[in-house]
Formats: sequence, C-alpha cells, structure tokens
Amino acid sequence: MRQAGRYLPEYRALRQKHSLLELCHRPELAAQVTLQPVERLGVDAAILFADILLPFEPLGLGLTFTAVEGPQITRPIREAAQVFELPPVDPATDLAYVLDAVRATVPALPPPVPLIGFAGAPFTLASYAIEGGGTRNFVLTKRFMYAEPVAWHELMRRLAELVGSYLAAQARAGAAALQLFDSWVGCLSPADYATYVFPHSQRALQLASEPGVPVIHFGTDTATLLGDFARAGGDVIGVDWRIPLDVAWERIGPGHAIQGNLDPAALLAPRADLEQRVRDILTRAAGRPGHIFNLGHGVLPETPLEAVQAVVEWVHGG
Ligand code: CP3
Repeated sequence: MRQAGRYLPEYRALRQKHSLLELCHRPELAAQVTLQPVERLGVDAAILFADILLPFEPLGLGLTFTAVEGPQITRPIREAAQVFELPPVDPATDLAYVLDAVRATVPALPPPVPLIGFAGAPFTLASYAIEGGGTRNFVLTKRFMYAEPVAWHELMRRLAELVGSYLAAQARAGAAALQLFDSWVGCLSPADYATYVFPHSQRALQLASEPGVPVIHFGTDTATLLGDFARAGGDVIGVDWRIPLDVAWERIGPGHAIQGNLDPAALLAPRADLEQRVRDILTRAAGRPGHIFNLGHGVLPETPLEAVQAVVEWVHGG
C-alpha cells in the first residue's frame, strides 16, 4: 500500500518535476509511476497510481495537495444545501484520464502481474469533503452526520453511486482487481457504522461488482466493526495491525479472503525484529488459501527501501 510513494527514490525524482496532481492527470506518467515498485520490488500486484480524492475535482469541491498538510479541499461541504447542489459526475468522461491510465498501464505490466484499480469509500470521502482535509477527531463530519441525517444520507448515496460506477469503469478499462479504501471508518462506533455507513458501502460494492474482478474492501481500526464491514461486501477484507490476522479472519468468517496486516512502522525496526513480525503474520495465516500479504496501511515516507525489499523476499519464501 502506497508502494509507489516518497520512500522510493525514482518516485521522488519524478515528483521533483511534476506535482502529485500532474502525475495523476497524465496517463503516461501515472503508468510510469505504477510500474516503479513492480520493477524495484518484484511485488505480485501493481496498484494504479491515482488518489481517492480525484473525484472532488469534477464535484467542484476544489483539490490541492500541500507538502506539510496533505490534501486540502478548498470548498468543503458545511451546509446541508450544498449536498443537493453537487453536480452529477460521470466517471467515463469526468475521470477519463484515470481510465486512460489503466489502459496505458495494463499492457506495460510484466505478465502475470495484475493491476488493482481503486476508489475511496463513501465515508472516507465524505469525511474529507466535510472537514476540508485530514482530521483527528472527525468533529465536523460527525456533527453533520448527527445534525443533518437527510443531507448526510443524500451525500453518501451520491458518493456510493459515483465510486461504484467509477470502480466498475476501471474494471472495464482493464483492472484485474479493485480496492475500496475506507481508511478512516474506524473512528465510528459499530452502531454508527451500521446506521450511517453500511448501506452506502454495500451499494458502492454492489455497483463495483464485475464478473471475474475481485474486490478488496479495506479499512483501518476496524477490529470492532469487522462483522458488518465484511457483510457490506468485498471478496477480500483488508485489515490493519491493531488486530492479529487470525483473530480478524475469525471475525470476518471463512467466506472471505483477507489482506494484511504488517504495521508500516515495523519497516523502521531492526531487521531481525521486522523479520519476526513478518513471520508471525505468515504463521497466523497458516498457509490457508486466501491470504494476501500486505501492510496494514501505507508505506511511510521514512521507510528504508531495503526493508521493503527484504519483506518481499521473506514473503516469497526467502
Ligand atoms: O502505490 C500507491 O498506493 C499509490 C497510489 C495511491 C495514492 N493515494 C497516491 C498518493 C493510493 C492507493 C492512494 C489512496 C489514498 N489517498 C487514500 C487511501 C489509502 C490510505 O492511505 O488510507 C487516502 C486516504 C488518500 C488521501 C491522501 N493522498 C492523503 C491523506 C495524502 C497525504 C499523505 C502523505 O503521506 O503525505 C495523499 C497524497 C498522496 N497520494 C501521496 C501518494 C503517493 C504522497 C504524497 C506525494 O507524493 O506528494
């Protein structure tokens, strides 16, 4: 996760010349960045270079990225009325450059490496749209959710339609698998997840379903939500390191595959310590079919490249 990112020297070199949005907007550059970690690490899959917040541009919310504060939304949603005035978004035209990036990447990948397309889940997108950027306590998001339930559900309904059709379009453009990122959903109680989020994630995942294209449903801090989170949909459930892999799999049930769950910070630990943590995850997976080894969240910019390479080797049986 974030396998193409700032820890990678060739990514930093390209970022010297192009902004993050420019890398996303230009399909040939997005394809080039997508291939970088495949060539450098020998990972089993590529994830498309894009960002979950790109749909905010055609939604008219305004999107910039700053080095210090990360994503900034220039016209955040603060009033119920704004939700009903959002323009319709058609991913086939309004996000055509992402679909072009998928088409440019697929033939350039060494077989059999599959391409994973992705989108943000309705809750995580709504939180950015309302807060205007990253947040610690989700105060504005939760106030809106509790105080304006009609507008909240309308916003979530619109986002679910958008990301569901966007994911399906990526599959039709050639993505072999899809991932729905609900990165911040763990800030919710199980009851609030069920009331305010579950039906919309379920709708997005239904719309994303294309024959032969598995879907990964990812969240962090989901230990107490896993039952409903898995019931919302997804062939694979992505979990973070706050719960042991085998315990998570038990809660998810035997009908799903699982992705995870190394703490990204473990890559900063002494090498022997890192190896022990990787092996612990493999032991917990116990060779059962349906485990995708991954980090529990994105690679941190401070990560030594050699640590990532070592993890790939151990997982591949070295
Ligand atoms: O290899 C890959 O995974 C790259 C493709 C990718 C990016 N963003 C590019 C990116 C993916 C899959 C994402 C998803 C994404 N973006 C998520 C969901 C996954 C997660 O990590 O929770 C979220 C919440 C975002 C929103 C976002 N974009 C944030 C919070 C930030 C700042 C993070 C930081 O470390 O500064 C971004 C910027 C961003 N998007 C970067 C990359 C490689 C790093 C910044 C840069 O190059 O300037």
